[in-house]
Amino acid sequence: MKTRVCQILGCEYPIVEGGLAYVGNGRLAAAVSEGGGFGQVGSGGRSPEGFRQEIEIAASCTRKPFGVNVPLSEHRSPDAYFQVIEEMAAHIRAVSLSAGNPIPYVAPLQRLGLVVMTLASTPRQAQKAEEAGVDLVICEGVEAGGHDGPAELTTLSLVPAVCDVVSIPVVAAGGIADGRTAAAAFCLGAEGVQMGTRFVATIECQAHGAYKQAIVDGDVTATLVMERSLGRVTRVLDSPYTRAVLKQEQETPGDLNQILPLVAGRKNAAAALEGRLDEGWANCGQSLGLVHEILPAAEVVSRIMQDVGACLSRRASAFLQDGRA
Ligand SMILES: Cc1cc2nc3c(=O)[nH]c(=O)nc-3n(C[C@H](O)[C@H](O)[C@H](O)COP(=O)(O)O)c2cc1C
Repeated sequence: MKTRVCQILGCEYPIVEGGLAYVGNGRLAAAVSEGGGFGQVGSGGRSPEGFRQEIEIAASCTRKPFGVNVPLSEHRSPDAYFQVIEEMAAHIRAVSLSAGNPIPYVAPLQRLGLVVMTLASTPRQAQKAEEAGVDLVICEGVEAGGHDGPAELTTLSLVPAVCDVVSIPVVAAGGIADGRTAAAAFCLGAEGVQMGTRFVATIECQAHGAYKQAIVDGDVTATLVMERSLGRVTRVLDSPYTRAVLKQEQETPGDLNQILPLVAGRKNAAAALEGRLDEGWANCGQSLGLVHEILPAAEVVSRIMQDVGACLSRRASAFLQDGRA
């Protein structure tokens, strides 16, 4: 299954590993790319030096193309990360930009020979990205783990609406974790899928085992959205800790002194890296309901590609023949 996303990113299959704050390590990015997908090293939750080290690890583990992610507003000084990207550009195929205005960075990154992808959570944002010359747009619905767009559109609504108004390739994100959900995204017009939650529960991901197991154990209802009182939408694992954050938000809405310490990055690290799920929060999408095993990342990619084919051919033709897929 070759799409324009494969051509642009230089990968075999149109499956992208999303930027994963704190847990998107170089070994995982390389494993996804080795498996035929497109891995990305995350910069969220890392120092510029830590980011550089993970890029070096990815480059030493694979000769296949991989990318990096920069969540702009998550960094006090994004320029330090762009400096690393410039220095390491020979190893990097693409940069995905999220959580902020990507437009000023598009042309400078492309001048380095890099593919630029941006996140969009509305059709208007996708159009602006296309006007700015972005190479491909990732449309992320509110099912997704981590920060979602304030319009809170679902992947099912967002992806076809974006495909109707842009001509650059669209990658669907949010709620995709198996062949069925990937096939659905392709039917909506996407030419690639991006997954986050599914790749956390892999052998190579540096996330703590307790976090991976919580993803395996959780059903589709086991997430909640916090930070709405701060004007943000952050989908995380449902836990006594994140429920306490929500309670605090209800009691003192928008009170930064009360709420910011609870949602600080170190509280994310405590849960995601140290496995202290009762003392911090962990990003997680609704697709955890589809994740039943911790697998090697390459196996995640190959299983999904096998199942996409089966879904698109067998189920669709059975449905067309006798109305029962
Ligand atoms: C643990 C985790 C951390 C994430 N961190 C980032 C990030 O730093 N930058 C970003 O652009 N997206 C981030 N995301 C979003 C993913 O890149 C991806 O778009 C999303 O997970 C897709 O939805 P899914 O969770 O249903 O697979 C994160 C998601 C998760 C689950």
